[in-house]
Amino acid sequence: MKTIYFSILLTLLSISIFGQIQKPQDFLSSDFHQERRAILREKMPENSVAVFFSNPIRNRANDVNFKYHQDPNFYYLTGHRQPHALLMIFSEKQSIKGSTFDEVVFVRGRNALAELYDGGRISPSQAVDDLKLEVAFETPEFKNFPIDFSKFDQVLFYDFEDDVRETSEEGDLYDLISQFKQKVNYPDENKLDITPEPQKNNLNTTLLDELLRPMRGIKTEEELDLLRKAVKISALGQAEVMRAMEPGMSELEVQGMHEFIYKKYKAEYEGYPSIVGAGHNGCVLHYIENYKPEIEDGELILMDLGAEYHGYTADVTRTIPVNGKFTKEQKAIYDLVYEAQEAAMSIAKPGVPFSDLYDTTLNIINKGLLDLGVVKSLNAEDLIDPATGRHRYYPHGCCHHIGLDVHDLGEYELLEENMVITIEPGIYIPEGSPCDKKWWNIPVRIEDDYLITKDGIELLSDDAPRKSHEIEELMKEKSAFGQFNLPALEEK
Ligand code: GLY
Ligand code: MN
Ligand code: MN
Repeated sequence: MKTIYFSILLTLLSISIFGQIQKPQDFLSSDFHQERRAILREKMPENSVAVFFSNPIRNRANDVNFKYHQDPNFYYLTGHRQPHALLMIFSEKQSIKGSTFDEVVFVRGRNALAELYDGGRISPSQAVDDLKLEVAFETPEFKNFPIDFSKFDQVLFYDFEDDVRETSEEGDLYDLISQFKQKVNYPDENKLDITPEPQKNNLNTTLLDELLRPMRGIKTEEELDLLRKAVKISALGQAEVMRAMEPGMSELEVQGMHEFIYKKYKAEYEGYPSIVGAGHNGCVLHYIENYKPEIEDGELILMDLGAEYHGYTADVTRTIPVNGKFTKEQKAIYDLVYEAQEAAMSIAKPGVPFSDLYDTTLNIINKGLLDLGVVKSLNAEDLIDPATGRHRYYPHGCCHHIGLDVHDLGEYELLEENMVITIEPGIYIPEGSPCDKKWWNIPVRIEDDYLITKDGIELLSDDAPRKSHEIEELMKEKSAFGQFNLPALEEK
């Protein structure tokens, strides 16, 4: 008998140990999410309720969906990574269904068959124990949940995008949204006005963003740990690819090397579709086809990729000469972009307007393009492309927050301590541009990630060299990818 008990105990023990080692231990803590909810609650107006929905599942084709990604606000406030869920946060305690609480989550009900395919779902009691939410129910219970939204002065939520599919399962996101709309008398016609008239209803679809923006923009220590990891992984990927790069590789192969390195470091996703463009392709700002079968000797390749580690994403770009050596023209443009980035770095600190960073990079790039003779003057007719209305060669902004989103929620007025931002000037000269042909098909972006500190900035992505001669030096080194040979697909 004793032996049986002992072996049961051992099995239970090994299941629980096994359960623990199956999952990384360095996700954000439930205390982090709980604290975020408490801070949001403090900021909410009196007698209000904030309602959040999980992200929809996105269909790829037929019965195959894209890998699920939680809505960043939902994740920020709960740590819940599963679909079909609803969170309510109340400004004051509510007494409903015999208990008193100021937050409640609805998580998808159990379904043995669905879980056979997709893995275990979190139960309401796990939502309470593991996620530390005060009260939890299964989603089918929302329909008859006795809550009177009309008694609140304000019901805060993000307006709907109308892109949610109905499934056959009761209590899916489609049901939750429909039932919510019914409960709050959501107007029938398409979307609410941006600023709903308070006398008409108590629905407010803009305030949550105003409340969450400053919170999400200032990172806590726990968030910084994850961001630092995501950025380091991405920069190490850039450095390794610099060693491995050779003419004749395909853009997809280069993308694959970066992404393999992310996975090797256990980063789950890419924070956005990877951009790998050689020559002319690098001039397409969000080029994600990465189709070029053979990158040519003499070309530059622009690689804008970011690892997402436990929800937090980096955003790092390097532009390198495929054959290891910049041409004279490539180097001139590269060094100009580098100078612009350095100048923005040198002024970045708390209190400086975000817009100063862009203005600094723009002034240097304009002056440099004029000195090099790429533009004839700094008049609008030489600098602005009439087709796009943008700067002909530097057509994008230079800085944004990163975090749970690559273009993260945050304030864009003044820099503040513990913001994490990019500085990413670029010059792109597509074929056919009104300048000497020798400049054509030169795309350069240098993008790094920075923590704003008490009195300056910390460069987080310094594992990947930025200076042109340092890149050339590193490209002389060998990479393990050089030994990675596979059989040909077709007999030659
Ligand atoms: N990777 C997108 C961006 O740089 O903003
Ligand atoms: Mn960026
Ligand atoms: Mn980028």
